[in-house]
Amino acid sequence: MEENRASRTALMTAYTRGYHAAHDRPTIFDDFLAHHLLSGEERSAVEDLMMTFLRRFNPVGAASFPDTGAALAWMMQTGAAPPIVLARARYAEESLEEAAGEGVRQYVILGAGMDTCPFRRPDLARRLRLFEVDHPATQAHKLRRLADLGWDMPPGLKFVPVDFTRQSLGAALAASSYDPHALTFFSWLGVTYYLPRDTVLATLREIAAIAPSGSMVVFDYLDCDAFLPWKAAPRVLLMLRSVRELGEPMQTGFDPLTIEAELAPLGLRLRDDLSPFDIHARFFLGRTDHYRACEHAHFACAVVE
Ligand SMILES: C[S@@+](CC[C@H](N)C(=O)[O-])C[C@H]1O[C@@H](n2cnc3c(N)ncnc32)[C@H](O)[C@@H]1O
Repeated sequence: MEENRASRTALMTAYTRGYHAAHDRPTIFDDFLAHHLLSGEERSAVEDLMMTFLRRFNPVGAASFPDTGAALAWMMQTGAAPPIVLARARYAEESLEEAAGEGVRQYVILGAGMDTCPFRRPDLARRLRLFEVDHPATQAHKLRRLADLGWDMPPGLKFVPVDFTRQSLGAALAASSYDPHALTFFSWLGVTYYLPRDTVLATLREIAAIAPSGSMVVFDYLDCDAFLPWKAAPRVLLMLRSVRELGEPMQTGFDPLTIEAELAPLGLRLRDDLSPFDIHARFFLGRTDHYRACEHAHFACAVVE
């Protein structure tokens, strides 16, 4: 992502959660605060961008919609990114609820973007110390937006700016009120895709080093086929093309057959790895609209050894 500019994909994922909460029933994930995190101007900019991509990549389809609202609804329900964004948020929050009942005392949201959990879930914010870790440019943007909104900050919430490609997560957390002895839950949603492989592995290694045994990290990843044009689902190729044009190219995936062996030397034991089939069965089955789990996305939960 660009050094001095908030992540555009973070604004798009917040738009997605806000759109879904306002327009779709039943909700896969009800982020009823998400739309506040974008200004009216930013929401319009996201919609313009989506329409631009639609006209460029699918001009015949674009011409067939009666209006922008119908085109946006279709892109939300049939695009590759929305089902990933919505279902991973639900998976992470369900896993967090379970972990909070099993003694977890801290929640570290890595690459938080416009995540609203600390504000939307006062029940969890009361029980857990919360940390939002993000690229300095995205975090500064969010803090400005929160100040504009005038929302009360949960007392236990801390913001920790970190560029994963240049800084040490461990050192940044150690300099905050993070307690290295407290059982901790980390989420890392929508970030592994964008980082160099070495950075992904180094960050996971740092998590294992700074958190006590039994702590866990939930993250999503693309399988390696997503990056092979002759194997990837067409909508995933479109997603890759779109984010590349936004200046945030996706570059790293994992092989589901070897990820367990890749995590082990980092000090992490793979506890769950939800395949697209599992994700569809858990979060999408029975829907009467067109949302379907993304063909190449996995949701993983790894436990610190
Ligand atoms: C697609 S957004 C996901 C945001 C949020 N987790 C979500 O699910 O909506 C990607 C996030 O990764 C963060 N990110 C990208 N590169 C980063 C880096 N080098 N260091 C820290 N954060 C980074 C961005 O700032 C952004 O918040």
